[in-house]
Amino acid sequence: MRLLIIGCGAIGATLAEAIQGMEEFDIFYITDKNEDRARKIVSKCPKAKFISPTDESIKARLKNVDLVVEAASQEAVRHYVPIVLGMGVDVLVMSVGAFADDDTRERCFNVAKRKGGRLYVPSGAICGTDGLHSASADVIQSVELMSIKGPKSFQENEYLLAKGVDVNALKERTILFEGPAREAIQHFPKNVNVSVTISLIGIGLDKTMVKLVCDPMSDCNTHRLEVWGAFGHIVCETDNLPFPSNPATSYLAALSAIAAIKRIAGNVWIGI
Ligand SMILES: NC(=O)c1ccc[n+]([C@@H]2O[C@H](COP(=O)([O-])OP(=O)(O)OC[C@H]3O[C@@H](n4cnc5c(N)ncnc54)[C@H](O)[C@@H]3O)[C@@H](O)[C@H]2O)c1
Repeated sequence: MRLLIIGCGAIGATLAEAIQGMEEFDIFYITDKNEDRARKIVSKCPKAKFISPTDESIKARLKNVDLVVEAASQEAVRHYVPIVLGMGVDVLVMSVGAFADDDTRERCFNVAKRKGGRLYVPSGAICGTDGLHSASADVIQSVELMSIKGPKSFQENEYLLAKGVDVNALKERTILFEGPAREAIQHFPKNVNVSVTISLIGIGLDKTMVKLVCDPMSDCNTHRLEVWGAFGHIVCETDNLPFPSNPATSYLAALSAIAAIKRIAGNVWIGI
């Protein structure tokens, strides 16, 4: 199999190392608008080939690629995912927050359907998506997410800056946001991708409720998912260690992409 990774930051670099060790892939391509980051990976991974971040070179490469992994940004999803799916190629999306926008989501989902390409969204930094998925086969009354993160995760957040909130000055746990997932991802595009994942699996962006908390003492990215439905009750809490290179991103998110790629490349799926 052949794979193309778009985005060589915390997740993309971890993925590249894993793909290097997977026998299912004989070669993989990488690109990033920051070319140095992509070239650094090429110097460490013999199976990796650099391609320049232009539409022409990416489109040319898509002709012999089986799967594209987006690990870049919401903007990259909006730009590249319709192109990739439009050529009938499968794509795995990490910046799932882009699908909170109804136009982007419908456009991408419709192209996938029309052209037959598959669109995968891994569970990312949260646990419990398996149970939520099963629960969605019957009535779900409520889905609530509480995310607790340290101040490093919220640096340069525009919504907080506009409100005059200085997370570095907080002395105790403080609620930064409470409301529907649709608004949460708008204000915190790098912090609550998981709220969009669970919304798309469960009861949607307007009914899924999100509470975002900053804990000055925390080094973890904690997600607590609570679901009530016809099946009963789920409470699932995940304490994630963040990437040193990007404290807003949890290591588990990269592992979820690696695990998803292994499943996509294999023939046996357990716990689907
Ligand atoms: N689904 C989840 O649970 C989950 C969890 C964590 C992060 N994420 C998302 O995954 C994405 C990657 O996370 P990360 O921590 O690796 O980010 P990062 O900031 O460490 O790296 C992103 C890389 O992508 C590159 N990039 C951005 N836009 C690009 C574009 N249009 N074309 C080419 N390259 C581009 C950047 O130059 C950077 O090197 C982010 O959008 C993040 O919000 C999702």
